[in-house]
Formats: sequence, C-alpha cells, structure tokens
Amino acid sequence: MSDVIRFDILTLFPEMFVGTLQHGVLGRARAAGLVDVATHDIRSWSTDRNKSVDDYAFGGGSGMVMKPEPLSAAIESCRQEHGWVVLMTPQGGVLNHAMALELRRKSQLVIICGRYEGVDERVRTQLVDEQISIGDYVLTGGELPALVLIETISRLVPGVVGGHNATVNESHSNSLLEHPHFTRPREFRGCRVPEVLLSGDHLAIRRWRHLESLRRTLLARPDLLKRRGLESVESEWLWNEEPVAMSTFDGCQPSV
Ligand code: ADE
Repeated sequence: MSDVIRFDILTLFPEMFVGTLQHGVLGRARAAGLVDVATHDIRSWSTDRNKSVDDYAFGGGSGMVMKPEPLSAAIESCRQEHGWVVLMTPQGGVLNHAMALELRRKSQLVIICGRYEGVDERVRTQLVDEQISIGDYVLTGGELPALVLIETISRLVPGVVGGHNATVNESHSNSLLEHPHFTRPREFRGCRVPEVLLSGDHLAIRRWRHLESLRRTLLARPDLLKRRGLESVESEWLWNEEPVAMSTFDGCQPSV
C-alpha cells in the first residue's frame, strides 16, 4: 500500500472541485501532503475545431454520449503504471466501507466523471477497471459522486482524520452504526447525559457504547446487523438486559 494516494479527476467541470478540495479535511490532507488530487478538463484532449466532447447516440434517442477519443486520450495521459481507472456511474457497485478500504490500497485512482447519457461503451469496456455508484438514485453527473469517493477514501489515510485510530470506532468501520455522543452541559432541555458516561468507569462506558451501537444498528439498519451477525455476548446484552427498542438515552433521563 502506498503512503500517498493520488487522485486524478477527469471532468468537464473542473471548477466544481475548486472550493471543496481546498477546505476542511481534504484541504488539510492535501496541504500536509497526505493525499494528492489533480483535476483535468477532458475538453482539453478534444482535437476538433469546436473542442467537442459529446455526440449523438447511434440508434437515435435524445441524449448525448461522451465521445471516446478525448476521454480515452485523457485516461491514457493521466494513468500511471499501477493506476486504477474508476467510472462514476449509477450502474456501478454501490460504494461502502469495505470498497473504500480496498481502493485505499491503490497508489492512484483515475476517476472519470460521467455526464450526459454516459460514456461510449468501448471506453467502459476497454479502459475502465471499476464502476462505482454512490447510491441508488441518479445525479446529473459524476462530479459530486467523485468528491464523495475521494473524501471517503482520504479519511482512511492515516493522519488525515484526528489521531491514528480516529476512524476505527466510527459508523460502518465495524459494520455497526456509531454510539451516541454527548458534550456539556450535563443537562439540556430536561435530558441528562447518561450516568455511565460520567462515572469514569471505562469498562462500563465501553460496554454501554457498544450496546448502543448494536441497538442503533438493529433499529436503523437491520440489514447491516444481519450481514455482520451477533456474538453470543452481544445477543445476551441486546435481548436480555434492557428492552431492545429503548435506548438508555432515547428514553431520556428526565432531570429530577
Ligand atoms: N452519476 C449519476 N448518478 C450517479 C450515482 N448515483 N453514482 C455515481 N455516479 C453517478
């Protein structure tokens, strides 16, 4: 696994990336040299007089298709020796944490942002290594999905988010949703922070957080829990200790 991952974004709208890549976690990661991101305008590889990048679909229909020549030239000019070419499309596999971990192992991702009806099929079959969707809905282009992909992967690079283990406990890292968080004040709108979090008993806090993670996942994303399964001690906690549907916080501990 390489230390610094490089993203090369192929797009017809490079301006869409300017602000997002400069701010927050991604901006800091780039400034620290932990991730390397470059945007490329596919149009600059177009060789005709009008700098065209799309054309009518053979067979008819109203939509336009991204022409193969500029796009293939862009891919071939940006792809490095071990580069991995990704096409953002609603037809791809839906992005999840496991996919992000796998993609994080690449030294370079060349990310194609599809527009119009999509890319010419010959580019897809000959030059694309993987197709990725960010969900079962259709956006007008692959630019926002590319940003989602880049942020998801970058957060897994050591040093990009908080301390070394900062992404270890968060939602999806262990196929569970994250436990609730509280900060001061100890009481807000009649609800107190659960006593256990104030107890200083680290073992009890860990156990409480784990139980809340299980409970949240069971209620909001039973599909995740089904896939992951439960250890026997977890089933005992979930089913025996307290009513499953009621978190110690959802019930709110009213102040006396
Ligand atoms: N382009 C349009 N919709 C998309 C989606 N859901 N995921 C990835 N790329 C897309």
